[in-house]
Amino acid sequence: MEHAAWWQSAVGYQVYPRSFCDSDGDGIGDLPGIISRLDYLANLGIGFIWLSPVYASPMVDNGYDISNFRDIAPVFGTLQDFDRLVAEARARGIGIVMDLVVNHTSDQHAWFQAARAGRDSPFRDYYVWRDRAADGGPPTDLKSIFGGSAWAWDEDGGQYYLHLFDRSQPDLNWANPRLRAEIYAMMNWWLDRGIAGFRMDVIDLIGKDVDHAIIADGPKLHDYLQEMHRETLAGRDVVTVGEAWSARPETARLYCGRDRGELSMVFQFAHVTEGWDATFGKWRDRPRDLVALKRVFNDWQRALADDGWNSLFWSNHDLPRAVSKYGDDGRWRVRSAKALATVLHLMKGTPFIFQGEEIGMTNRPVAQIADFNDIELRGQWPQMRARGLSEADFLAGANANGRDNARTPMQWDDTPNAGFTTGTPWLAVNPNFREINVAAQAGDASSVLAHYRHLISLRRRHPVIVHGRFTALAEDHPAVWAYMRELDGARLTLVANMTGAPLRFVMPARGVVEGRCLVSNVAARGALTGSVELAPWEAVAVLGPVPPQGT
Ligand code: GLC
Repeated sequence: MEHAAWWQSAVGYQVYPRSFCDSDGDGIGDLPGIISRLDYLANLGIGFIWLSPVYASPMVDNGYDISNFRDIAPVFGTLQDFDRLVAEARARGIGIVMDLVVNHTSDQHAWFQAARAGRDSPFRDYYVWRDRAADGGPPTDLKSIFGGSAWAWDEDGGQYYLHLFDRSQPDLNWANPRLRAEIYAMMNWWLDRGIAGFRMDVIDLIGKDVDHAIIADGPKLHDYLQEMHRETLAGRDVVTVGEAWSARPETARLYCGRDRGELSMVFQFAHVTEGWDATFGKWRDRPRDLVALKRVFNDWQRALADDGWNSLFWSNHDLPRAVSKYGDDGRWRVRSAKALATVLHLMKGTPFIFQGEEIGMTNRPVAQIADFNDIELRGQWPQMRARGLSEADFLAGANANGRDNARTPMQWDDTPNAGFTTGTPWLAVNPNFREINVAAQAGDASSVLAHYRHLISLRRRHPVIVHGRFTALAEDHPAVWAYMRELDGARLTLVANMTGAPLRFVMPARGVVEGRCLVSNVAARGALTGSVELAPWEAVAVLGPVPPQGT
């Protein structure tokens, strides 16, 4: 086996700083707050933190609109706090992975301020400008992901600029080599501070060809990523994860193949979009289709079996809570949260935990559209209404899939505001914090938290979890998730009942195993053979020798 990279056996943990831990009572989480919880994260066993943006920002999109790439937003702290975070994390064996948001900046960034000063500004070409169309309107009918046209009129220079997100997030022009050099210098500046890598925001958009309406996966994408690698990452032992909504199993290896010199892995979203409505996307909720969901994961496991590497995740700051979306956040909350974790963490790839997932945090129901905070949601509601989606359907979709769900404050204990802040939280805490919180689970061996800790420690002890060959089992079974991993004569078989009803599952002959139970959320089993009675949401994995052929 070739030498394994550190990030292949590590587990990532996403911190959404705004909602993690507030140290100064202003209702917004901050860097000192994160530092104060590092022991908790070390105890969980994670290898690195993906830190959502903490750069200077007017916070129109909660920090994904950066006004200065080389400073920290005062609401989060200072550069000194950041350096302390890196050092304190490193002392606990945890790396800090920065969020690299370079498809766009804030309109408050000095580059954009200079660029909009006039057509002959030396910074003009850092952004994407076009003249008005013959009818006086926007140059093309390209739409913003946050709703409305992707073109905003700028009076001063008498041109439109491109913004694939909010109009305050102008897109950078990656075709400009000077701009690219500035970005690489900025990346090196952070890497030299000792960070462990980058998560790259909507990175599949940077190679766009606007004039031919090619946005994602554009013609220059991989040239830029290879150049970026040469200029910044080469020779450094860091991890990089590209957010790539357009990635498919067939294109994934272009990003993360062994000889490509690009990224460690991508976040792909086919398991998310698989559940979306063809017309209204995530704003019209659809029931879970387990067979389709499994197929997405299985296809990715197969596609990157021998080259490339998978990221594994259920949730992030843009997605609903895992247990609410894919599990049962009512009667079977604890058990289904454990089942989802087990299914994900035993696949081949690097698992990512979104803050609060490890204690089984749930979506927080919102009664009316006006009560949502998220900029995307507020921008998309008028668009969806115009296309014919009813208010009730939109509200249901927003509650099921909206971005506020994951952004409610971390639930630390049962004191007011869940121990997140002594002030007024920027986004309301989920009222279930008295029952669901870290303190309540800390000493409880049967908790979701203990289950996550166990899964993470298994990965460190069993190479089969990191490197074993993946084989899907019972792919068409509508209720059971099953697969096996094999390495050097060892077999790890996972079986999970993904429903709230008991069932009898006949083990496919090629997956049977006898040995010892590595993980279970109901009761230990030493074998998975023949006919297996599975309790609601029971998930179990057994490790044993590969049986001799023919048995
Ligand atoms: C990514 C981020 C999301 C942000 C968007 C624009 O999708 O994850 O939160 O709004 O990019 O930067």
